[in-house]
Amino acid sequence: MSEPKRYTITAALPYANGPLHIGHLAGAYIAADIYARYLRLQGKDVIFVCGSDEHGAAITIKAKKENTTPKEIVDKYHSIIKKSFEDFGISFDIYHRTTEPIHYETSQDFFRVLNDKNAFEIIESEQYFDEEAKQFLADRYIIGTCPKCANENAYGDQCEKCGSSLNPTDLINPRSTLTNSKPVLKSTKHWFLKLDEQQKGIEDWFDKTSKENNWKAHVVGQCKSWLNDGLRPRAMTRDLNWGIPVPPEIAGAEGKVLYVWLDAPIGYISATKQLFLEKANQQNIFSYNERSFENATKDDWKKYWQDDETQLIHFIGKDNIVFHCITFPAILKATEQYILPTNVPANEFMNLEGDKISTSRNWAVWLHEYLEDFPGREDELRYTLIANMPENRDSEFTWQDFQNRVNSELGNNLGNFVKRVSDLLHKFYDGVVPEFK
Ligand code: MF3
Ligand code: ZN
Repeated sequence: MSEPKRYTITAALPYANGPLHIGHLAGAYIAADIYARYLRLQGKDVIFVCGSDEHGAAITIKAKKENTTPKEIVDKYHSIIKKSFEDFGISFDIYHRTTEPIHYETSQDFFRVLNDKNAFEIIESEQYFDEEAKQFLADRYIIGTCPKCANENAYGDQCEKCGSSLNPTDLINPRSTLTNSKPVLKSTKHWFLKLDEQQKGIEDWFDKTSKENNWKAHVVGQCKSWLNDGLRPRAMTRDLNWGIPVPPEIAGAEGKVLYVWLDAPIGYISATKQLFLEKANQQNIFSYNERSFENATKDDWKKYWQDDETQLIHFIGKDNIVFHCITFPAILKATEQYILPTNVPANEFMNLEGDKISTSRNWAVWLHEYLEDFPGREDELRYTLIANMPENRDSEFTWQDFQNRVNSELGNNLGNFVKRVSDLLHKFYDGVVPEFK
């Protein structure tokens, strides 16, 4: 394959519903950062974009829990998350957010294009409705028993115990998390992406690209299983009062918002647009890769998203595979304007002291708390997470391992090596590194 002209590196937009923990860094951000830095060192033209994912039920549920508004929640956590990324040296060219106007426009434009290209079909279906709360229930607002493994607390979209992806109506004994009542089915219509019609196109692209670029086996495995099951239409709108409204000219969609998994990955694109707006205006002068932003124009974002000579690489955790390997590529493809990803090097999960990291059970090492206990020790944590990165299987963080690695690998081995080199340098070369011949 010929040398790509440039690279667009994305890292999954974290939900702005809580602070970051070590699992986030190990799952996607450190790997993405290493790759971006590696390419920059080689003088390649790279952009590395990310931002906060500020829509969807993940946010509204948190707002309800904290007795406040979704807007308060995303403002609060966006700044905490942004600061952690800065503290740990994740070298994004931009860290954007999905509540910015430019993202609303970009997402609504996508919806229009998809609609014009006839990528949607409107399907009327029965959805769970909470009669006490008088609202339709997002998948995450419904809990019930998993039909596959009998876990009693499976969500309407996924069972976290056995990992199966579910529809709310698959759940046995569904209940609403808003009121704990039994939801009733009520009819509503939604815009479904006709993934079934894209099966062949996606399969052909996936087979070719995953082979050519040596995709990770666990990523290929998940994709194949989705493709073998047969792609089905998937709803791209929601009845929710927090999100990006469906463009107002679309008849019959009043009150509906875009599905968060439609708008969030488009966030990579709006972040890129914002980046070049700022570069073109000479704002945001600081950059990890000044070279590639000389004479930037605001339309340069297109080169990074619409030119075949660009490689698009998505760094994500394994729970995001289907969205990045099937749904988002199908969306990009349907526009007939965008490039598709070259690789999606998803990591698996990092566990903590024998247990799955869990925000709700508060079982995590939070990045901001780590820095309170170990101020200035960002690199020690980065090193431990890299050494133990869950690249192809789940891995585990323990404080004992952290201590060993810091004391023996960094302190003894690296420290010793540096000390010896420095001693020799002083002894034989007056403390100046000689020219390499
Ligand atoms: N917010 C999602 C999560 O944390 C990831 C979104 S990735 C994006 O699981 F592609 F949608 F941006
Ligand atoms: Zn299950």
